[in-house]
Amino acid sequence: MSVIGVGEVEAAGTTLTIKAGDVLTPLARDRAAERGITIIVSGPDAPASAGRASPSSASPRTQVSPVNLSDPGSPRSADARTLNSLYRRGAPLDPSLQSRPTRTSGGKPRAAVIGAGHVGSIATVRLAESDLFEEVVLIDLVEGLAAGIALDLWHDASIARFSTRIIGSEDMAALAGVDYVIVTAGKPRTPGMTRTDLTSANAAVVGPVCEQIARHAPRCVIVVVTNPLEEMTHLAQMRSGFPSERVLGMAGVLDSARFCSLVGLTGLALPSEVEAFALGSHGPEMVIPLSQARIKGRPLTDLITGDQLDAIVERTRDSGAEVVSLLKTGSAYFAPGHCAALMVTAMASHSGQVLACAVDPKGSYGIRDTRVGVPVRLGPAGLESVVELPLEPGELTALRESADRLRERINEVA
Ligand code: NAI
Ligand code: 2OP
Repeated sequence: MSVIGVGEVEAAGTTLTIKAGDVLTPLARDRAAERGITIIVSGPDAPASAGRASPSSASPRTQVSPVNLSDPGSPRSADARTLNSLYRRGAPLDPSLQSRPTRTSGGKPRAAVIGAGHVGSIATVRLAESDLFEEVVLIDLVEGLAAGIALDLWHDASIARFSTRIIGSEDMAALAGVDYVIVTAGKPRTPGMTRTDLTSANAAVVGPVCEQIARHAPRCVIVVVTNPLEEMTHLAQMRSGFPSERVLGMAGVLDSARFCSLVGLTGLALPSEVEAFALGSHGPEMVIPLSQARIKGRPLTDLITGDQLDAIVERTRDSGAEVVSLLKTGSAYFAPGHCAALMVTAMASHSGQVLACAVDPKGSYGIRDTRVGVPVRLGPAGLESVVELPLEPGELTALRESADRLRERINEVA
């Protein structure tokens, strides 16, 4: 038995042959009807809707939904199709009404976000607002959640002035052919929990999700957000089978941004005028090399006292927990969602930006066989190169120690 989703329908020509007993998702059935695709069942039973058997049986080679949309006499002629697609409840955006270019056809890339929770929703808004993408696909296993958020966000398109289509689905097949996937599926921590406490629960989500990503979008770049970050990034690479250059962990961008914003609280500069990298782990082994921190080109260490800087570094390291303790029911999401989207927009726009990401440094900084935050130059297909900063000896030692701790934890997950 296979689950036939939108991806298979969209990849089909005028007919799609499925086996008896295959499950056709409601969205796929809908899309086939809209496109006038004839579904042929090659066994004794009719296809069932996802999760339950269809009440009507179809005989072998029965045509299901053979509606001819090009027939002007058909009740589903082009106008009716437009009406159905644009105004019918549950179908806010119908990609079949427009061409669907991919990078290979020279059009805009497509992105996806798995997990329509707090972080996933914000990441989706930011991706859409960048207007760099033909489409953003939002997926969540909770029925209606992704579709509801997609519709809500699309209602903002005329005000926010973006044209990126937003599709919500429960079906991983909707990922078919996307170029970038942000993984936020999984549980956030609650007060008192460490990120590591989430390991087994979130590994059970991230592993299967990444297998599905590899199945439906085999050439995409994965950006992992789910915690514990470095462990989940490693797991994502193992389960997707992708080269490590196409599986990046998001945390360093967030931790660097937090540091810059906290420096901004001193009143010495605007947050956007501060330049710094947070490296190492997304946790206690975070390393912020102060030798590399600047305000408008001037070393931060010339402008802020050592004690003040130590306090800012400490607060940065604890920022995630600080937000959790205030929210009480979840973790930070505005800045995290933006940071995940930033990694994707940096890649999609070929900006060549250098951002701190969790990767396998493969020998840079004398570190290998782990996942750790280091500055990397991003290109359209993921990691282009690790950027080696001239760290001071103590900073380099701290980074290598952080990488060692992470290797131990990653090996436990592996
Ligand atoms: P949330 O609970 O609001 O959203 C998670 C969503 O994932 C839920 O809607 C849930 O239904 C969905 N989900 C679960 N299993 C799924 C599956 N198999 N397929 C599709 N969807 C699935 O959580 P939130 O706040 O969005 O956080 C998500 C993750 O991101 C957490 O693990 C959190 O710790 C992590 N995080 C990581 C950060 C970082 O810097 N790396 C920063 C902030 C959060
Ligand atoms: C954070 O740092 C929860 O890892 C997440 O906010």
